[in-house]
Amino acid sequence: MSAFNEERVLTVHHWNGSLFTFTTTRDSTLRFSNGHFTMIGLRVNGKPLLRAYSIVSANYEEHLEFLSIKVPEGPLTSRLQNIQVGDTVIVGRKPTGTLVIDYLLPGKRLYLLSTGTGLAPFMSIIRDPETYEKFEQVILVHGVRTADELAYHDLLVEHLPNHEFLGDLVTSKLRYYPTVTREQYRNMGRITDLIENGKLFSDLGVPDLDRETDRVMICGSPAMLRDLKRMLEARKFTEGNTSTPGDFVIERAFAEQ
Ligand code: A2P
Repeated sequence: MSAFNEERVLTVHHWNGSLFTFTTTRDSTLRFSNGHFTMIGLRVNGKPLLRAYSIVSANYEEHLEFLSIKVPEGPLTSRLQNIQVGDTVIVGRKPTGTLVIDYLLPGKRLYLLSTGTGLAPFMSIIRDPETYEKFEQVILVHGVRTADELAYHDLLVEHLPNHEFLGDLVTSKLRYYPTVTREQYRNMGRITDLIENGKLFSDLGVPDLDRETDRVMICGSPAMLRDLKRMLEARKFTEGNTSTPGDFVIERAFAEQ
């Protein structure tokens, strides 16, 4: 059996000149945990050209959704950004990854800290009812350069709180904190700085980070991961992985493609 499924593009949405989302059909045998990534791509000259992408859609949904940047010289994204409804993309049959709530120790508050396309795995996690069974509060932070990079902002602010099944959970437990670094916005600054200076917590009206109660998932650029990991370890948080749960888990946002 092939390692890949051929899926059909159902919708394409361009957020701005550098970011887009698309949905595809989903093979009925594809299984994944919310937060997982898989290899996806296109056939180029007959050969699969693949990169890792976090799955944005939740694992109970009929379709698959992905968030991608557009890199003009990127071998895959320079092509992928031109996909149209009805085109074929290839999707790996073996999703995997460390951003899974089972790899975290029990806690009260779950922080999902992302920059750029690092938001993608958290879109699936915040649409998983189990996330709200395990945590009393879920705080989704998305850091970007400019406000037009706040993908899914309207879904998070308007649609999800009114969602037929998730609306009550989202309204009572999910806090969304978008922050912008290179233009004026209602929240400004890097996630690292907002944690160090306490603004994130005072804005949200929650206590400072505490290993006793808080768990953290991080997805973003290598520099962001490195800095946040160092900050958490300084606060005695331990890193979890697929075999040993911890206080935080990390995954690189798959970009530069
Ligand atoms: P900044 O504008 O100050 O560089 P990028 O598009 O480069 O991945 O950046 C996405 C967001 O992540 C930007 O707001 C950027 O802030 C921020 N960022 C970049 N490096 C770090 C880091 N080491 N820690 C926290 N945030 C970062």
